[in-house]
Amino acid sequence: MTRSASRPTLQPHAPSGLAAEFAAAVRAGLTHAPQKELPSKYLYDEVGSALFEVITVLPEYGVTRAEERLLTRYAAEIVEALPADVVVAELGSGSGRKTRRILEALSRKRPTSPTSYCPIEISRTALQLCRRELADIERISIVGYERDYLAGLAEVSRQRKNGERLCVLFLGSTIGNFARLAATRFLRDIRAMLRPGDTLLLGTDLVKPVPTLIAAYDDAIGATAAFNLNLLARINRELDGDFDLRDFEHVARFNPDARSVEMHLRARRHVSARVGAARLAVELEAGETIWTESSHKYHADEIPAIAADAGFECAHQWVEKEWGFAESLLSAA
Ligand code: TRP
Repeated sequence: MTRSASRPTLQPHAPSGLAAEFAAAVRAGLTHAPQKELPSKYLYDEVGSALFEVITVLPEYGVTRAEERLLTRYAAEIVEALPADVVVAELGSGSGRKTRRILEALSRKRPTSPTSYCPIEISRTALQLCRRELADIERISIVGYERDYLAGLAEVSRQRKNGERLCVLFLGSTIGNFARLAATRFLRDIRAMLRPGDTLLLGTDLVKPVPTLIAAYDDAIGATAAFNLNLLARINRELDGDFDLRDFEHVARFNPDARSVEMHLRARRHVSARVGAARLAVELEAGETIWTESSHKYHADEIPAIAADAGFECAHQWVEKEWGFAESLLSAA
């Protein structure tokens, strides 16, 4: 898109609500020094959610398949460990494909009582996908929340009936997208909304050889690169930005101190761009990066201590050794 110099910076309609929040986050992130950054939750618009679904089936990205294998093998054992009157809430349901295992096992365990399932998702597309994916399960009622995780969970927790126990699913490796201390803090925030007897089923991707990790976040066909670059495309679409995507390349690098894979968008040359709705002019030097996401990797035996730190007790753990993934059942102590 070309832009005439006389184009007014003020939009005819001031962005409201979600768009204003997005604009403010972009403004804060792209003026952040020394490292420019963009919040990863904005990766998941309709295009981004579709691209992420592609990532989950890539040969290089073993995370989703490993977790599916675990849940297929152990769903019955997992739901056996849950209290009888359980309501399932899920932080970031995605397509719902993995959740099916848990919900079907619950439906088998309780052949007469219905199961309530409350997916909490910022992506409307993902909510629709997951509703469609899971609708055929017997005796299930699905109530979706298009909200941030904690706001959604607060609402689910508030609306539950007396005596109902919550089981919060936090699958995939989303906990890994928090820095280590922030991850513990986030678990504490979840714990604050739970009552004794409630549970949290937590997925964690485990430490593995660096080349395997890098390939998982920088695949050969460029799906992850497209997923990352779509964040700039989304800024262009929704916030009247003028980034030329060809000026950027996707970079995944391992940070050994944090044990994380960092994702960046690196300027191939000097870039000046404008984001109309954020009233922002941004400059990047050649080689400068915008940090978009980090994916922290864990050792399975770190989880009980982290859980304890957040007010949970690690009651069970199931480990998939082929790829390296753990599912931990934490109970609110
Ligand atoms: N939660 C996923 C993970 O850390 C998200 C993810 C996968 C991701 N590939 C990505 C985030 C690429 C940003 C860029 O594994």
